[in-house]
Amino acid sequence: MLCTEQSNREMSHVSTTELAFTLAAYDEAAEFIRQRTGLQPKVGLILGSGLGPLAEQVADAIVLPYGEIPHFPVSTVQGHAGRLVIGRLAGQNVCVMQGRFHFYEGYSMQQLTLPVRVMQRLGIETLILTNAAGGVNQTFQVGDLMIIDDHLNLLGMAGANPLRGPNLDTFGVRFPAMNRAYTRSLRQRADAAAADIGIAVQHGVYAALAGPNFETPAEIRYLRTIGADAVGMSTVPEAIVAHHAGMQVLGISTITNICIDQLDFDAEPTHEEVNAAGKIIVPRLIQLLLALLARL
Ligand code: HPA
Repeated sequence: MLCTEQSNREMSHVSTTELAFTLAAYDEAAEFIRQRTGLQPKVGLILGSGLGPLAEQVADAIVLPYGEIPHFPVSTVQGHAGRLVIGRLAGQNVCVMQGRFHFYEGYSMQQLTLPVRVMQRLGIETLILTNAAGGVNQTFQVGDLMIIDDHLNLLGMAGANPLRGPNLDTFGVRFPAMNRAYTRSLRQRADAAAADIGIAVQHGVYAALAGPNFETPAEIRYLRTIGADAVGMSTVPEAIVAHHAGMQVLGISTITNICIDQLDFDAEPTHEEVNAAGKIIVPRLIQLLLALLARL
């Protein structure tokens, strides 16, 4: 149940007010999912732009379109399928979000992070977040995979934090620490998995912006100055909510384009370019994720 009078379904998903969900709402969604699968998923995966094909490798899958799950928003972005896939992947019981919600679509922070809390209520302990990102670090190349060591929450600094509003103590404390948001042992296991299968990975800081526009050259130079290695429009709200709720978090960015930091450059980044690069990188990301899952 929402704290507002209207249900999520009845109102437009575009909202200027924060929609705070009750614990009962998260539990209603979790119970709906639980009743449709005999599996107890332990690992959650959220797939970014163009990365959906991984969900097709899930065995014994049950597929739940977001529109069927109580309180779930519906994804509006091209390249995001919008369904939950629960099944077996590399020896693990997984719950895969094929398509995520973004702030730029008009969802509130609470709406776009609702699935993370639902996963937590389902008993999921580890959350793996993937995204498409622009390379800010000048040593990065299109096609690189970057393990997220830390983030810059520029959305949060501008006032859009998913934990804003009444704190639900069942999930976590009012003022959570964020210095250990990205679980060290998971980052180490991702490194070990990458080494095992002979894939090079980068490490770095992911800066989250609202989007939907790509950055100006001045913004890219600014992001580099403040310590960003990659920039994107997702992941950080989900990581914050997951960490707040005591979940272990791993983030992996696929570098789909190199950010343009000079004025009057001929080319410009496009969503099509991001999706096309995602398709090329996806087999390597899938290999890495499968190797990692086998080590959990
Ligand atoms: N900027 C922001 N978000 C992105 C980019 C980018 O260059 N590439 C993929 N997502």
